[in-house]
Amino acid sequence: MCGIIGMVGEKYRLEALIDGLKKLEYRGYDSAGVAYVENGSLVLRKVRGRINQLIESMGEELKKNIRVGIAHTRWATHGEPNEINAHPQTDCTGKLAVVHNGIIENYRELREELLSRGHVFVSETDTEVISHLVEENFEEDLLEAVRAAVRSLDGAYAIAVSHAERPEELVVARKGSPLVVGKGQGLGLLASDITPMLSYTRDVIFLSDGEIARIRGSNIEIYDLEGNRVEKKALHVDWDETDAKKSGYKHFMLKEIMEEPEAVRRSLTNRITSNRRVVFEELELVAPAIASARKVMVVACGTSYHAGLVFKYFLERFSDLDVEVDVASEFRYRDIHVDKNTLVIAISQSGETADTLQGVRLAKRKGGTVIAVCNVVGSTLTRESDATILMMAGPEIGVAATKTYVSQLVVLYLLAMYMTAKKSVWREEFDEILYQLAHIPEVFEGLLSRSEEICKLAKKYQNYHHFMYIGRGLGVPTAMEGALKLKEISYINATAYQAGELKHGPIALLDEKFPVFAIAPRDRLFQKMKSNIMESVARGAPIISLGTEGDRELLEVSHDTLWVPKIDENLYPLVMAPVIQLFAYHVSDLRGLDPDKPRNLAKSVTVE
Ligand code: F6R
Repeated sequence: MCGIIGMVGEKYRLEALIDGLKKLEYRGYDSAGVAYVENGSLVLRKVRGRINQLIESMGEELKKNIRVGIAHTRWATHGEPNEINAHPQTDCTGKLAVVHNGIIENYRELREELLSRGHVFVSETDTEVISHLVEENFEEDLLEAVRAAVRSLDGAYAIAVSHAERPEELVVARKGSPLVVGKGQGLGLLASDITPMLSYTRDVIFLSDGEIARIRGSNIEIYDLEGNRVEKKALHVDWDETDAKKSGYKHFMLKEIMEEPEAVRRSLTNRITSNRRVVFEELELVAPAIASARKVMVVACGTSYHAGLVFKYFLERFSDLDVEVDVASEFRYRDIHVDKNTLVIAISQSGETADTLQGVRLAKRKGGTVIAVCNVVGSTLTRESDATILMMAGPEIGVAATKTYVSQLVVLYLLAMYMTAKKSVWREEFDEILYQLAHIPEVFEGLLSRSEEICKLAKKYQNYHHFMYIGRGLGVPTAMEGALKLKEISYINATAYQAGELKHGPIALLDEKFPVFAIAPRDRLFQKMKSNIMESVARGAPIISLGTEGDRELLEVSHDTLWVPKIDENLYPLVMAPVIQLFAYHVSDLRGLDPDKPRNLAKSVTVE
């Protein structure tokens, strides 16, 4: 969601800035723009559409050497996606440029005030009020002008400001939306996330809310809103630049699914002892809170929410804890009952999801202890939680969560066992589960080698307009995740139901044009699932079943089957994940769509 990049310092090619912007493409956007300073004037280029259109429109201009520039991908909130509303936004003098991620809540009032003082607005954006506010406050010092301007803003922002009269510097500020700064060789850099920084440095500083920074080449000064200097240490990120490249795969999504064995291996590393126990050194400080917890609440969105559901089924099965799971956008507005005996597990790949962060803040205000399960070191969630478990999945560029989902599941299984042990005793079933978990990377390798087979099935089903995913127990989150994956990248109307609920309404939808995707492993609920499949067969629905290798009973009631190997029944959500992901991927690709950049979606959802 909105990507910001800026570079200032020794001369560099303008195309380097645009290359950096391209690395933020995955966040999702509908227009793009750049501003740079040339001979004391601000040059502005913007397009509606993709960055490639910006590149085409700029042509040879990209070969220019510049000293300062900012660029932006916009995901429209205020005003439709067009050239005028694209960022950067300028002021009345045309010398100042602002790029912004977030939403300014009081922009209407500010706009009225600024209009009454004679400012002329050209766009419908909330961002433009920032440009005019900085303009009003600018005399000599750009940092001071930005500091004064942001004090009037309500809402969320990450901004970068450039002024034609200050070609040696960029000023950035952050509240509620992510912003990272770092130093390259003779260059100062800023971006919405670390992916474009990796070509220059792995040592980055994540700005906190209320911080403002002045970047002059490799000199970065950080201040608070009162103007006090803040000293911050850079954080070393061990992600590799090649992690963020397609490396010969047609899409990032496919590459990231294929990386799942490695992602899972990293999630498991150092977390299982030789005598088969779970260790989380990072949870030492919150271990007493885990031991005394009377209630567990999970807060997350989308795919992370589905991982939370698996955690619930698993933890409730082995402990006497009740686990409540809620989507963050509901959780934060509910009358939740959280106190010092409540443990809140916040699951977020990006660590920047606005709703999840607000849920965490609410839970903390009420006295709960928050454990984050997150993939991005230094992200806001990791900084605001009491403890963080890093998933270690590596960067995920495809908008649809894939390898981070399986890493989440692995970490959450481990966490549930760790918590159960802290609450009572080590359950003997865990020995076998841990043993099997440790071998999941090899199981995944086998599953991923069946991609072609899954593609064949995708060919057969690619033209259906609807899909019904059903499951029971631990199969429910898999059904929900399967439906989410399919709908978000193929735009097929895929819906998920607890299989037992079919007869309470949704079964009315089924006929020969409405396939059912049944999650039917050989677990304790298999026979019940089978009955639900037969009910669907009786309505003429084509059935794809995802079950346990060689299950003849399932074969008999299904038109098509996909298999996973036999495993402890608790781990089926994990081994089924690559299969539902590959099915969705192939359907999307066969329909000629781009699964990496689904329409209307953003990778990091930093607005409410
Ligand atoms: C779906 C997907 C989204 C995210 C959701 C939460 O494939 O990626 O549903 O899971 O936006 O994002 P995080 O985990 O970053 O909080």
